[in-house]
Amino acid sequence: MLVTPDASSVGIFLNSDPRFADLVGQVRTLAIEAGVAAYLVGGPVRDHLLGVPVKDLDIAIVGSAPSLARRLADALGGRVTVHPRFRTATVWPANGSPAVDLVTARRETYARPGALPDVAPGTIADDLGRRDFTINAMAIPICGDDTDLVDPHGGSADLEAGIVRTLHRDSFVDDPTRMFRAVRYEQRFGFRIDDTTLADMQSALDAGAMATVTGPRIDNELGRLIGERKPLAGLRRATELGLLAAIHPAMPAMAHWDALDGWTSVPPGAQPADREWPASWDAALFWTMTHDQVASLAMKNPYRTRRCRYVDMLKEGMSMLSADGLLPSEVCAFLDYPRPEGQAVYALTVALAFAEPVAAERIRRYLTEWQDLQPHLRGSDLLDLGVPEGPAVGEALAALRKARLDGVTRTRQDEGSFVLRWVPPST
Ligand code: CTP
Repeated sequence: MLVTPDASSVGIFLNSDPRFADLVGQVRTLAIEAGVAAYLVGGPVRDHLLGVPVKDLDIAIVGSAPSLARRLADALGGRVTVHPRFRTATVWPANGSPAVDLVTARRETYARPGALPDVAPGTIADDLGRRDFTINAMAIPICGDDTDLVDPHGGSADLEAGIVRTLHRDSFVDDPTRMFRAVRYEQRFGFRIDDTTLADMQSALDAGAMATVTGPRIDNELGRLIGERKPLAGLRRATELGLLAAIHPAMPAMAHWDALDGWTSVPPGAQPADREWPASWDAALFWTMTHDQVASLAMKNPYRTRRCRYVDMLKEGMSMLSADGLLPSEVCAFLDYPRPEGQAVYALTVALAFAEPVAAERIRRYLTEWQDLQPHLRGSDLLDLGVPEGPAVGEALAALRKARLDGVTRTRQDEGSFVLRWVPPST
């Protein structure tokens, strides 16, 4: 059951950041002064109708968004960023309130598939008509008395039915990043992608649409997919629909995500925060690829470097942890080591190890037995046994832990004898 649209700020932002209502009130005042119409559009309208908290403010101005944005920034004492090509602007209020995105209502045309669109000012109907899905193509007026939902494409019916549907058949050819967006909304809201929309996605993929998109734009979509609350569901669906393979044939296949399924529940001792961390998923996304394949993707540079490093570390970890005859202390030496990327890569190594039984078993034992295993003897015992104060105590404790891990010593007495052998009586 959808929430009834209500343009009074209070109604819309009931579950959301309380500052949204004020911000919309300010835009409303300035828009009325400037004699332009303003609408809440896209995500906030969809989220409001669904009764979920509105995350950000997207407002369409039938007039110049940059000029209204400058007035808003003046009124709030904030800063404004203008994107002249699309006639959009973002206002960053000085008081730390959330940013407000203002777009000039526009028409869009695509000079060639996958390119960024050319834009011209238009009506609110034009602006809704250029959008990705019906559920994102609705508006609520914020000036004047008419507060009725503007829904020319049946978005509220699709929201009610739980359907992700494009507005026209070329939508994915024009903008292939929308394929990832479809998956994101489908998985986030538990919706389904409409059959015709799915067929259009398949045709766009068959026609090689993904190759027309620049690396940074794909990168952005992958980042947003990973940033969802349940990344695994989205990554699985993207794989099933062939979206990852369309980016690069060596990207993970379904079995990979199936193996990762265990990650969410199985590894005892893995730290929940690490499992949530997007960087882990980021590494998961590139794990099946070689260093050179990862580097060949024209992604954003800092990420590419970082990803190559993750992939190298994961591969190094997996081959090391699968090696024959590895002693427990050698497993610990590898997993204890404070790696620059820390627990995220480590936790992911755990996850991926489910596909590598030998490594998996070693990691399981590390987490459940070895990680916290300490010698029976303490530093004071070592001093009593004649180990000199200073770094030698730490070295002796490390040697004792190693001996206990590898079964060289078992009891307190064994450790005593070990220390006496380790520390010559002359000291
Ligand atoms: N949009 C689009 N095509 C795209 C990207 C965006 O039509 N490739 C439109 C959609 O109408 C979308 C709006 O621009 O609602 C804002 O985009 P964005 O902020 O990416 O999406 P949100 O709707 O805010 O969704 P999310 O909750 O995922 O942030």
